[in-house]
Amino acid sequence: MSLSPAEALRLYLPECTPALQTQAEAFAPSNIALCKYWGKRQAALNLPVNSSLSISLGELGTRTRLQVIDAPCDEVWLNGQQLDIDSRFVRKVSQFIDLFRSLAPAHFRVTTHNNIPTAAGLASSASGFAALTLALAGIYAIPRDGRSLSRIARMGSGSASRSLFCGFAQWHKGELDDGSDSFAEVLSEAWPDLRIGVVEITTAEKSVDSRAGMTRTTDSCLLYEKWPQQAARDLQTLRQAIAAQDFTLLGETAEHNALSMHATMIASWPPLLYWQPASIEAMQQVWQCRAQGIEVYFTMDAGPNIKLLFQQQSIEAVRVCFPTMTVVDPWHGPDPLQG
Ligand code: PMV
Repeated sequence: MSLSPAEALRLYLPECTPALQTQAEAFAPSNIALCKYWGKRQAALNLPVNSSLSISLGELGTRTRLQVIDAPCDEVWLNGQQLDIDSRFVRKVSQFIDLFRSLAPAHFRVTTHNNIPTAAGLASSASGFAALTLALAGIYAIPRDGRSLSRIARMGSGSASRSLFCGFAQWHKGELDDGSDSFAEVLSEAWPDLRIGVVEITTAEKSVDSRAGMTRTTDSCLLYEKWPQQAARDLQTLRQAIAAQDFTLLGETAEHNALSMHATMIASWPPLLYWQPASIEAMQQVWQCRAQGIEVYFTMDAGPNIKLLFQQQSIEAVRVCFPTMTVVDPWHGPDPLQG
């Protein structure tokens, strides 16, 4: 029998005596999957069909502050604006906090700032739920244990399980129904020359969120049957590429993995196409760059924006083709578990 999210929280908590603090603050970086998470084997606890591997986005992410307030419900501020209590965002945040309220009841002012566009496929739900988990750990005096908090953050948003770490993180899909073996951990390897270029196509909210997109794909796409096999193979190849610092292997595998995920979306019904004409133009530009000997690859999540992968020595050449890109150094940013 599978657990409810509230029961799972108690199982996942590290050994501690929760005690309510009046305020806490935390930062978590966003992350970009090089091997994507696409599809759930269990929806309530966000247990994935496949394991995934990501790189964090350094200083780009979410900072969240929690203050206990004397009020009948939570108050949520996003990027300087108070949100309506009936908005989807507030409901998601409050539902996640509900899991912790059984430890000690309280309501909070939640002040959250993203320095990346919200819900445009730049994985801000990942940094958002990771920062919220860390801030709640601060409020309830829960130790910042990466494995435990990763399992908890996963229940807010799957990709949040990978946003508690700097650098490469692997989220193990796990096999158990209670989700206790489904958590992310940091990989020991660093790759100081690796850079991410964020090419913003639009900051508009996407019409189909990842959760709905995954359900549509797993329900209606026959090609999806092959996805778990491809993801497992790509993850192994990425581990080899990281161990050998083989950039060509890393880039080719990540780009192929992203396009394969998008192929399953496109082959769903109704079709799910997150790309805008400008996304396709950017992909073609990347292929032209490679034809000219500039080593750059792309990846995309459930949205129209493109993330470029290249090495430090190619920055100037890549910038000629993508003058507006934001260059991210994944190795330059605070460690969320230390902060
Ligand atoms: O964590 P979610 O529910 O926002 O889903 C993330 C899905 C992708 O961004 C498309 C892939 C990934 O692994 O981050």
